[in-house]
Amino acid sequence: MHVKHLECSSCRREFPARQLHNTCTACGKPLLVRYDLERISKFMTKQALFVRTPTMWRYREVLPVRREENMISLGEGWTPLVHAKSLGASLGMKQLYVKDESLNPTQSFKARGMALAVSMAKELGARKLAAPSAGNAGGALAAYCARAGLEAFVFMPRDTPRANIIECEISGAHVTLIDGLITDCGAEVARRKEANGWFEVSTLKEPYRVEGKKTLGYELAEQFAWTLPDVIVYPTGGGTGLIGMWKAFDELQQLGWIDARRPRMVSVQAEGCAPIVRAFAAGEKSAEEFPSASTIASGLRVPKAIGDFLILDALRTSGGTAIAVSDEELLDGTRQLARTEGIFAAPEGGACVPALRKLLDMGQIGKGERVVLFNTGAGVKYLAAFGG
Ligand SMILES: Cc1ncc(COP(=O)(O)O)c(C=O)c1O
Ligand SMILES: [Zn+2]
Repeated sequence: MHVKHLECSSCRREFPARQLHNTCTACGKPLLVRYDLERISKFMTKQALFVRTPTMWRYREVLPVRREENMISLGEGWTPLVHAKSLGASLGMKQLYVKDESLNPTQSFKARGMALAVSMAKELGARKLAAPSAGNAGGALAAYCARAGLEAFVFMPRDTPRANIIECEISGAHVTLIDGLITDCGAEVARRKEANGWFEVSTLKEPYRVEGKKTLGYELAEQFAWTLPDVIVYPTGGGTGLIGMWKAFDELQQLGWIDARRPRMVSVQAEGCAPIVRAFAAGEKSAEEFPSASTIASGLRVPKAIGDFLILDALRTSGGTAIAVSDEELLDGTRQLARTEGIFAAPEGGACVPALRKLLDMGQIGKGERVVLFNTGAGVKYLAAFGG
């Protein structure tokens, strides 16, 4: 209702909102949704949120779906912000929090993005949706398509965790396993989509998954009573959540709900696939494809991300950083999070623990700061990584 238009994140070209779009037709970069925030700020109030549904749809004025019947929901969002007192104490910290996204439908933060992408695809008339996935995005796409009565086509690396493959199949998605990485899966979708009439919902190659992910930023602000933490530590593959939160903070400021202060944004990657860490250290504006990418944290096995320049910009503008951890460290971190807080995180989420420890040791995060670690998914989907 309040969408003005879509805008290219690179060349700023504008596109009409009420049509299906993939990337910018002029430069190939991601499109972002722009709202009439001044108008929204006149009637959307913080107080009105008190009585709203505990899902991401509580922020519906700043979401693009127009018709209620197209809001395809399984109750995603409004996940717990857990005060991690024991893990914090072991690190000498009092204000350590875990945003536990494993409580979403389909057990990962991918639910937010896919709920919105599927809702908008339905509203704008697409019937067959296709995406490459490292695992969790495929499961979410399959579930929301099932609920929306749309067809899902998921392309995953053959060695994706079994749970992800089975959850896609059980929801009726067409699953193709590829001998390769997520980038190879993406190339396969691109090659076959036109002949098959598929609408591509790869991350940041359609404008709405990032809108779903941005609700992470709205929620953090609301759960911290309209302040933001000092540091956000985020396991980064394609970076949609980080880009989404960064967008949310700007929108919140334009709404007059927060001030100009921003958290330092930290990208965590695996040593075996760290394109953003490399590019950040080298001072580059975009990231080269990471060769022979490999890590047990399948969601972090993204050797090339289309939103790389947006991630790097958010890290630098916020005064944050990018840091890599080994597979051994991230599995250890997962165990530590489970033992100290009872959160059996996805290995991607577990990666935040050694990253935090290193940044504390290097003095880049202070023990007195308010820090949020993102657990993006559920450990039970990765039993093989834990000897299961
Ligand atoms: C559990 C988990 N964490 C993190 C990521 C990386 O997310 P993003 O692509 O938004 O950076 C993924 C992606 O598949 C994931 O499944
Ligand atoms: Zn463009």
